[in-house]
Amino acid sequence: MKASAKANSNIALVKYWGKLDPEIRVPANSSISMTKTKLETHTTVEFSDDYEEDLVKIDGEEVNGRSRKRVVDHLDRIREMKGEDKKAKVSSKNNFPTAAGLASSASGFAALTMAAVEALEMNLSKKELSKIARMGSGSATRSIHGGFVKWNMGGSHDESYAEQIADRDHFSDLRALVAIIKETSKEVSSTKGHSLVKDNPFFDARLAQTHEDLSKVEAAVKEEDFTKLGKYAERNAISMHATMITSEPPLFYMEPGTIKVIKSILNWRQSGELECYFTEDAGPNVHVFCREKDMENLKSRLKEIEEVEKTITVEPGPGARIVEKDLF
Ligand code: PMV
Repeated sequence: MKASAKANSNIALVKYWGKLDPEIRVPANSSISMTKTKLETHTTVEFSDDYEEDLVKIDGEEVNGRSRKRVVDHLDRIREMKGEDKKAKVSSKNNFPTAAGLASSASGFAALTMAAVEALEMNLSKKELSKIARMGSGSATRSIHGGFVKWNMGGSHDESYAEQIADRDHFSDLRALVAIIKETSKEVSSTKGHSLVKDNPFFDARLAQTHEDLSKVEAAVKEEDFTKLGKYAERNAISMHATMITSEPPLFYMEPGTIKVIKSILNWRQSGELECYFTEDAGPNVHVFCREKDMENLKSRLKEIEEVEKTITVEPGPGARIVEKDLF
């Protein structure tokens, strides 16, 4: 009763921020993402009578506290569905430094879901896997699929899952450079952040705009329209951060280096030097979208910004998959 899976992280083009049902992570709005190459989690799960307790290792270290509880709660959900009560050993490895502030919960819970379900021989569709992954981490629901993915919010557990809108070979001209910004403070978890929007007076305005952004971004993906994609993805990130900043307490995920990158992007675009667009999640790093032909130019410009520690170039990546190689 052992299986391994890999899943990649994703970057939202239209962001999920706020939940209708925090318990099971039904979101307040639908979202669209691109699954990314390179940023990947590999997870092995084994259920056995030999284990008296669930044992969770991330990057070789046994984890406890909140991180362990999230994994154990997720295993409990899957065990309950199967009617299984064996304890499990979980070992998970990210091929990127967790400390760099790159989201690991999306790839992490997608890989955990896929490996645990396979280990229990549950034989579920991607739709079912996406619903289960969602309960571990909202953004994980999208990492079940590769390429371009839409998470339809739905209004209940059964209606809230992700579907692929275009595969990873589509829009092959699109690149994203992740600018890693030196962090100076610890971020507030996104789980906490999501819970703050319900009292935010600007949230309804964001939802109305997001509704339009969803149809524009979906059309832009299908039409491979870079300018449209960049424009609406960027404004959706800005409205999410406006909501974050106006929460109580205010959430500033940006660092001075983030602002420097954003202002440079706006300058390059407005001066006609380079067409690129930004997006930012619940952390200081910036994803910058460009066309393939502009990648080297963009990379060298970003590297000149002192606060940019490094850049990682990513493309549309694969969905979660079972792998032969076990971690133990
Ligand atoms: O899945 P969570 O709880 O880490 O929330 C992710 C929220 C954002 O990354 C900010 C936006 C998104 O849609 O991925």
